[in-house]
Amino acid sequence: MCAASRSLHPPWWQSAVFYQIYPWSFQDSDNDGIGDLRGIRSRLKYLRGAQHSLGVDAIWLSPIYPSPMHDFGYDVSDYVNIDARFGTLKDFEDLLEEAHRLGLRVIMDLVLNHTSDQHEWFRDSRASRLSTKRNWYCWADGKSCGRRPSNWNARFGGPSWTWDPEARQYYLHSFLKEQPDLNWEEPSVRAAMWDVVRFWLDRGVDGFRLDAINWLGKDTRWPNNPFRLGLRGYTRQHHLYDRDQALAHDSMRELRQVISAYPDAVLIGEAAADTPGGPASFYGKGDDELQLVFDFRLMKSPWCAKSFRLFLSQHVPSIPQGGWPTIVMSNHDQPRHIDRYGTGGDAEARARVAALLLLTMPGTPFLYYGEEVGMRNGKLRYRDLRDPYTKRFWPFRPGRDPARTPMQWDASVHAGFTTHRPWLPLPPDSSQRNVETEAADPRSLWSLYRRLLALRRMSPALSRGDYHVIEEGPCDCVLYEREARTKTGTVERMLVAVNFSQRPCEFALPSGSSQGLVLASTTADAATSTWDPARIRLGPDEGQLVRLD
Ligand code: NOJ
Repeated sequence: MCAASRSLHPPWWQSAVFYQIYPWSFQDSDNDGIGDLRGIRSRLKYLRGAQHSLGVDAIWLSPIYPSPMHDFGYDVSDYVNIDARFGTLKDFEDLLEEAHRLGLRVIMDLVLNHTSDQHEWFRDSRASRLSTKRNWYCWADGKSCGRRPSNWNARFGGPSWTWDPEARQYYLHSFLKEQPDLNWEEPSVRAAMWDVVRFWLDRGVDGFRLDAINWLGKDTRWPNNPFRLGLRGYTRQHHLYDRDQALAHDSMRELRQVISAYPDAVLIGEAAADTPGGPASFYGKGDDELQLVFDFRLMKSPWCAKSFRLFLSQHVPSIPQGGWPTIVMSNHDQPRHIDRYGTGGDAEARARVAALLLLTMPGTPFLYYGEEVGMRNGKLRYRDLRDPYTKRFWPFRPGRDPARTPMQWDASVHAGFTTHRPWLPLPPDSSQRNVETEAADPRSLWSLYRRLLALRRMSPALSRGDYHVIEEGPCDCVLYEREARTKTGTVERMLVAVNFSQRPCEFALPSGSSQGLVLASTTADAATSTWDPARIRLGPDEGQLVRLD
C-alpha cells in the first residue's frame, strides 16, 4: 500500500474515523425543529466520551455558514460567520473547545466553486461593470439573437447561464441559479478564499472538506460542450469546457502551500466521480495537492463480491504513492447504504457486513450520522420535501432529503432530536431504531459498530496497516488481510472474510494458511471462536474479523 502507511509517525487523519454530521438534523437545542451547534455540542460525548460512546476520532460538519439555504448551506453568504439558525461564532468556538477536550477533531465544509447570490462579493460584482469585484464571478455577454454565451448545462438542471438585468450580462452557475460560480482565474478570489481558510485554522479547526473541486476552472472562452446522444439532462453533454480544467489542480496546489503553515490540518476533496483521471487525480503527486480525496465507488456500487474485490485489488492500489484511500458508503447526497445495499436481500444483515467492511478496509472511513443505528431513507411525500434539487426531480429520482432526516436518539415522539415539529419528518420505525434502544442491546447494529470501532482503535493493522486481497476464496466471498508492526516490534495480522451471497458457504484456504481467533462476526449470535483455514464456514451475508496467529 501507500508509502505513507509505513511512516513511523503517520498523520492523525490516516488512522482516524470521521463522522459526518448534517447540522440541520443532528440535535436541536432551542426547539425550533432544526439542529444547531449547541445541540451538536451536547451530543459530543456520544461520539467520543469516557463511557458508552461510539468512539470516533473526528467530525465533519456540513456547512454551517450564513446562507439563504437554497442548497442547504452549500450556498454560502458569509464564509467567516455562523448561520443564525445554527448559533453564533461563540457557539462554534465552544463546540470546538469541547470537541478538542474530548479528543475529537473538527473539520469544516468549504464551498470553493460558488457562493450564494446573497454574498456581498456577488452583490458588489453584479452592481456595475466597473466594480472591483466584477471579475470575481463569471460574467459574459450573450450571443446574437439573445442566445446564452454557451450551451452549458447546470448540474441541478437547466442552463448554467442566467441573465442578470442589474448587471446586464449573463452569470455562470454550475449548480442552482442562486449559486453563482466564482472566477478562480482571478488572483483576488483565491487570496480571499485562502484568508477564509486561515480564519478557521487560526480558530483551531483541523481541516476542511472541499466541495466540488473539479468545477473550479472553466474555459473562459466559453466554447459549447459537445452533445452526447441518448442521455438526458446534465449527462447529455460532454463536460469538456465547464469543469475539469488544469486550474483546479493549480488551485489545490496553492491551497496545500497555504495549509503547510498548519502541519496537522487535513484537506479532503470532493470531486465528481467522472472527472478525467478520477477524483484520485487530486492527490496530485501524492504530496502536493490533497491528503484525502473521497472515493464514491462504494457509494454507487451494488452489493456484490466482485465490485468490492475490484475496489480493493485495483482501485485502492491506483492511488498515487503518498496518497491515502478513503472509504465512504453514505453521505448527505445519496440514498443511505442500508437501503441501497439491501435491495433484493436482507438489508439488516448487509448493513452489519457493510459496517465491518467500512471499518476494516484500508483507508480512512467516513460514517454518515445515523448509519450506526441503521437509519433508513425517509419515505417522504412531496409536501415534506425541502431540497430544491429533490423537488425538481421528484418522484423520478430518489433525491437527497430522504437521507437527511433527523437523528434517531430515542423512542420518544420526535426521537430525542427536538420537542418541536422536526424540519423533515421522522420515520415511524424511529421508536425501535434509535441510539437508546440499540445501545441497550449487545446484538444491535449500534453495538457492532461500537465493537468494531474499539477493535480498530486498538489495532495498528486495521487502522493503518498494509493489506492484500486473498484470491483463493469462493467467488461470492471477499477475503483480505491487514498487517502492521506494533509498538513492541511484533507483527499484527488481521483477516476479514465476507460472504456476499445469501447461501452459507464452506471452503478451505491452501495448507499452511494461518490459524487464528474470530474476534467479531456480523451474525449476532456467533460467539468468539477459533479460525481454522482448513474449514471456513460463513453464513449467508456474514462477515468475520479474525486475528491471525
Ligand atoms: C456537493 C455537495 O455535497 C452537495 O450537497 C452540493 O449541493 C453540491 N456540491 C453543490 O455545492
